[in-house]
Amino acid sequence: MKELLKRTHMCGDLRSENIGEEVVLNGWVASYRNLGGLIFIDLRDKTGISQITFPDSSPEDLISAASHLRNEYVVGIRGKVVERSSKNPNIPTGDVEVIVRELSVYSKSETPPIYVKDDDQVSDALRLKYRYLDLRKQHMQNNLTLRHRITKATRDYFDKEGFTEVETPMLIKPTPEGARDYLVPSRINKGSFYALPQSPQMFKQLLMVGGTDRYIQIAKCFRDEDLRADRQPEFTQIDMEMSFADQEDIITMQEGYLKYLMKTVMNVEIETPLPRLSYEEAMNTYGSDKPDTRFGYKLVKLNEIVRGTEFKLFNDCLESGGLISGICIQKGGSKYSRKAIDKLTDLVKTYGLRGLVWIKPEENNINSSVNKFFDQEKLGEIVKAMDAVPGDLILIAADTCKHVLNGLGFLRRHIAEEMGLLDNSKYNFLWVVDFPLFEENEEGELKAMHHPFTSPKMEDVDKMESDPKSVKANAYDIVLNGFELGGGSIRIHDQEVQKIMFKTLGLTQEECEEKFGFFLEALKYGVPPHGGIAYGLDRMAMLLAGEDSIREVIAFPKNQNAQCMVSEAPGIASNEQLRELGLKLDIGI
Ligand code: AMO
Repeated sequence: MKELLKRTHMCGDLRSENIGEEVVLNGWVASYRNLGGLIFIDLRDKTGISQITFPDSSPEDLISAASHLRNEYVVGIRGKVVERSSKNPNIPTGDVEVIVRELSVYSKSETPPIYVKDDDQVSDALRLKYRYLDLRKQHMQNNLTLRHRITKATRDYFDKEGFTEVETPMLIKPTPEGARDYLVPSRINKGSFYALPQSPQMFKQLLMVGGTDRYIQIAKCFRDEDLRADRQPEFTQIDMEMSFADQEDIITMQEGYLKYLMKTVMNVEIETPLPRLSYEEAMNTYGSDKPDTRFGYKLVKLNEIVRGTEFKLFNDCLESGGLISGICIQKGGSKYSRKAIDKLTDLVKTYGLRGLVWIKPEENNINSSVNKFFDQEKLGEIVKAMDAVPGDLILIAADTCKHVLNGLGFLRRHIAEEMGLLDNSKYNFLWVVDFPLFEENEEGELKAMHHPFTSPKMEDVDKMESDPKSVKANAYDIVLNGFELGGGSIRIHDQEVQKIMFKTLGLTQEECEEKFGFFLEALKYGVPPHGGIAYGLDRMAMLLAGEDSIREVIAFPKNQNAQCMVSEAPGIASNEQLRELGLKLDIGI
């Protein structure tokens, strides 16, 4: 065991102002060069790298110890900061180096299975298995620090606004978010299971019934759903609830928060009030309820303009009540050859579209994939409706409303990426409001679009049973650059309305009792009008860090198969454990 040299600076701290000082640094050997007796080492900690040097005039035992150093050894050094003869403008400490007088080697490292370099092209599987090495990378440490700054700013802001942070339980009955639960068997109550919370939804509402007035929690949530770049089975919400507040109060509070957050964490000013779109506008204009508004490519409905032509595809679509919509890609004409458009067509097939019609206005002519069916005049009308000019590309889809909106919604973002329009320095926040209260699932059953405690708009309460699909909710999503950052709603605080809600969702009295009995009981004893919102912390950190996946901002994320590659969870339970829990495995099915 070597003596710990107590550090005076972090490796990323040293500047020319430190020249002449004696300093102690602790860290990992990031690189090692031995130029025939003169030894250079890059020493790394979470703040950066300092060059440390062992001149050939150093005592023999020091040179000998230094010559045994290798990558990822952990050391402490004491030495003097001097000006570097060949400066490195690429790193903040590049003007100086430390001439070492004392070296303490704390621990050695075997050759690491992955290089600790930001640009290392190593597979995700290896990165996740050796996450503790991966985390040594500067960008990973920066991401963890950014995430910390977000939670700190969040707590500071809401503390000032009178919110109390309260922890809610992890072993609960199923919550109403509607994904699959993670279940935990109970040993003491054999045959019974806890669910891990999909969110603290019911407990935060009970806190309002309990008089907490303003609640916040940085809360762990668990959902057993298929993973995507912005989804993990275990994730974190910034979750809150407010009593005696309506939708405007909540939105105003959140805008204050987002402004403070962006200024404090990113030094970016955002203008409030933020833009708002109704769900309907968002879907019709952007083909998405989480539109990326950093670029145009808005959807334009063409049903009327294309009526009365010889084109069967369009006519069939019009007859069956479908939608014909187009997007105009400015300067896309030359970028997208026929072959490239074929590729786009293949991509949109996964969204249920059978094909894409293209039109390219040129200086003296309009070229298109439907020249056989459309004369130049008709094509000219479409070009005009789409606001296109020579050099642009128009892409048109005709199908059911859902397929067209989903397909074009995907396409506009995909093309914007290929056209280089996704500017990560832009932060386009917006609210999507006026969601329908219900949506239909594949089987044609009514489901709550958010969750069953979401309040209908006051003026729509009467239609909940007679015309449920027309009922709008007091629900709102906050969207950032095409991602759903958070969502919330005003809740039902009236027992009768809550009962109608459950009835419309097809829940019997017994089912309600079994699932939400305790909650309905609480609604009997004086409930303040209340509402709230939850942000995905991981998504927020991902977007502010400019990363493509939430894994990059989670210290120990799960892989595509919901496994923790470091600890190799989930694991096998022993027969003894199963016996104690009263469980028998039947994994043949
Ligand atoms: P919702 O289900 O919309 O609302 O979740 C809120 C936010 O949590 C994030 N999120 C996820 N992030 C990573 N991985 C996941 N699997 C995942 N699922 C959701 C999203 C989402 O916007 N109780 C309500 C909130 C409320 O009504 O107050 C709720 O949980 O960013």
